[in-house]
Amino acid sequence: MTKIPAHIAIIMDGNGRWAKEKGKMRYEGHLAGVKKVRDIAIHASDMGVRYLTLYAFSTENWKRPQEEVDYIMSLPKIFFASYLKELMDNDIKVTMLGKMEKIPKVASEIFKEAIAKTKDNKGMVLSFAVNYGSHDEIVTACKEYAQDVKNGRSNDLTVDEFSRYLYTRDMPDVDLMIRTSHELRLSNFLLWQIAYSELIFLDRYWPDMQDSDLDDCINEYNMRQRRFGGLDEG
Ligand code: FPP
Repeated sequence: MTKIPAHIAIIMDGNGRWAKEKGKMRYEGHLAGVKKVRDIAIHASDMGVRYLTLYAFSTENWKRPQEEVDYIMSLPKIFFASYLKELMDNDIKVTMLGKMEKIPKVASEIFKEAIAKTKDNKGMVLSFAVNYGSHDEIVTACKEYAQDVKNGRSNDLTVDEFSRYLYTRDMPDVDLMIRTSHELRLSNFLLWQIAYSELIFLDRYWPDMQDSDLDDCINEYNMRQRRFGGLDEG
């Protein structure tokens, strides 16, 4: 029987190269990427994935030209205007990971609205990492913990307790991490949460990812032996 990973995380890479190869503008690659978010989210939900976490904008992506940053920040509006109803129909709950303060209102307000509208949904949790970076997440968690200790919390911190200070506090660790466009790096994404994830690097650019690629990744995941540092079972 196929085991469906409870938590899949995806680094959606290659929008720019996809556009360039087609003689299009970079923004057209991002726009194609938005449609792909819809397709892969619905397919993952149909497959029974419980958590799908997508890297939409990193703490380092602010270094891109302002025009591109502005365009990427307009994508949530396009995405939810087009697909919120479908997310509702599929009982999908939207959440966000990352530092909200710096995100332009045009994006943060839309996300807040989508989060509020889907908060009672019981299906897959679809999380967007926006202004997210693992280093920042871990440092922020450490600061909050230090503050709690100052306020009287005991300082015998455990791994599980520390996890509760991260943006992913309500989620299981990532089972399967996928990166498109065959870049072999993790780019500061969920570094704590992928300690024992299976990693798959796909050759395709994000806008070209197909439902069948997700199926292939899940099949590949099923062929991996996860030992979590222990020995093979049986
Ligand atoms: C990486 O490709 C992609 C991004 C930085 C943006 C990803 C965003 C989306 C796919 C849409 C997000 C949707 C919502 C609803 C927030 P790249 O531009 O780095 O590609 P390149 O490496 O080929 O240049």
